[in-house]
Amino acid sequence: MYVVFEGGEGSGKSSASKAAVEKLRQLYPDRSVWWVREPGGCEWSEKVRELLFDPSSDDLIGVEEEILLFAAARVQLLRQINKAREDKVIVVSDRNVWSSLAYQVSMAPQYAELIKQLNCALVPNIRPDLVFWFDVPPELGLERAQIRLVDNNRNDTRPLEWHRGVYRRYQDLVADRTLANHVQRIDASQSFDQVMVEVVEHLQYWLR
Ligand code: TYD
Repeated sequence: MYVVFEGGEGSGKSSASKAAVEKLRQLYPDRSVWWVREPGGCEWSEKVRELLFDPSSDDLIGVEEEILLFAAARVQLLRQINKAREDKVIVVSDRNVWSSLAYQVSMAPQYAELIKQLNCALVPNIRPDLVFWFDVPPELGLERAQIRLVDNNRNDTRPLEWHRGVYRRYQDLVADRTLANHVQRIDASQSFDQVMVEVVEHLQYWLR
């Protein structure tokens, strides 16, 4: 099973994905559970992540390089995820191709089809079994991201209008059920405990 946690900045999906892994390990002690993140998740793709988020890249790379590097990191990771799925591992991923379809498409709508086709052509078996979309108003998400003291990236400091654009793209992805077998919206403005109750309920349903 391949489960993805998606959403904008400050939606809480990263913490929730890690907490979900702990919970799954308790509930299914006989199953292997693997947490990954995009970009990154495996040795080589983590190097691509470093390249992408190195502050010295900020003024050098444009959306074109981003499209290609996010996809390159994804190709390598998905090969490994697919092997794990064959071995019945539960793979929990913090982000996937939806992030490219939300962030890069919002920055460069002219590449929307290209990004979709590129990823679908290059990334093996890209469709997850389940995507949780962490729905939080961009105002609240940004406020949360700005008070986070560690792990900030260049998107955390972009203006609210930019985050609204990304949010609208996520709404489209959810409406179209793009590249996902199932999509579950989570009201991420709730407390973390409430969010986790919902997430675990849905995971138990899909793993029944
Ligand atoms: P990260 O530091 O992992 O934090 P978070 O997921 O909590 O925001 O940030 C990853 C950043 O990379 C995030 O701003 C979204 C962006 N991103 C893309 O723009 N495109 C992609 O394809 C992926 C996977 C991530």
